[in-house]
Amino acid sequence: MKRRLILTEDGSSSIYIEEMNEHYHSTHGAIQEANHVFIFNGLKRIKKNNVNIFELGFGTGLNAFLTLIHSSDKMISYDAIEAFPVENELLQNLNYVKEIGGEFDSYFQKIHSAKWEIPTEISRFFELHKIQSKIQNYNIKANHYDVIYFDAFGPRAQSEMWNKVILQKMHDALVSGGELITYCAQGQFKRDLKSLGFEVIALPGPPGKREMTVAIKK
Ligand SMILES: C[S@@+](CC[C@H](N)C(=O)[O-])C[C@H]1O[C@@H](n2cnc3c(N)ncnc32)[C@H](O)[C@@H]1O
Repeated sequence: MKRRLILTEDGSSSIYIEEMNEHYHSTHGAIQEANHVFIFNGLKRIKKNNVNIFELGFGTGLNAFLTLIHSSDKMISYDAIEAFPVENELLQNLNYVKEIGGEFDSYFQKIHSAKWEIPTEISRFFELHKIQSKIQNYNIKANHYDVIYFDAFGPRAQSEMWNKVILQKMHDALVSGGELITYCAQGQFKRDLKSLGFEVIALPGPPGKREMTVAIKK
C-alpha cells in the first residue's frame, strides 16, 4: 500500500492512498474535520469525568492528539486499533504540531513512540493503548466504551468496515448511553445502525459535507 502526504484546504496534512483513491481525512481540511466530528460532536458531548474511548483506524494519530489536547478536564483512557500502521517517516512529516501549536510537540512524539499493545501514559490525563490488529480479528471489551470514534475508510473504498457484523461489535463494546461518532452519513449505514438498536442522530457535517452521524446505544 503506497501512501503519500498531501495538504488539505485548511493547510493541515493528510495521507492519500492511490490504489484505493482514498484520503485519511476530508480534503477540505483534516484538522477542521477531526475537530468538528470527533472533538466538538464527540468528546465534548460526554459529560463524564472518566471517559473510555475506542478509535477504529488510528492512522496518523490526529484524533488521539486532538483528544489529548482537549482532555484537560477529563481522565481519558484511549484504545486505538490500526491494521496497517503508518511508517514513521510519513508521521514525522505531518504538520499537525506546526498547525496546532509547538507546545504540544512532546505529546505528539509520545503518542507515536508509544509501543503497540502496551498501555502508555502520555499525560497525567491521558492513557493510550495502541493495538495493531484488524478489527475483524480483535476481541473488543464488552460494555466498556463511552465513545467510539468510527474512522474507517469510507463505504465506497472499504465496504466491509461498515457491515452489520462490525457495527454489532461496536454496539456490544459501548456502555448503555455510549456514542458511536462518525463522519459518514450514508443511508444504508444509518438504517443498519437503527436495526441494531442504536438511536441515530444526524448532525451538520464539517465544511464540504452536509451531515455526520452520532449513534447512541440505548
Ligand atoms: C480514514 S483512515 C483513519 C484516519 C485516522 N483516524 C487519522 O486521523 O489519521 C482509516 C484507517 O483505518 C485503518 N484500517 C483499515 N482497515 C482496517 C481494519 N480492518 N482494522 C483496523 N484498522 C483498519 C487504515 O489503515 C487507516 O489508518
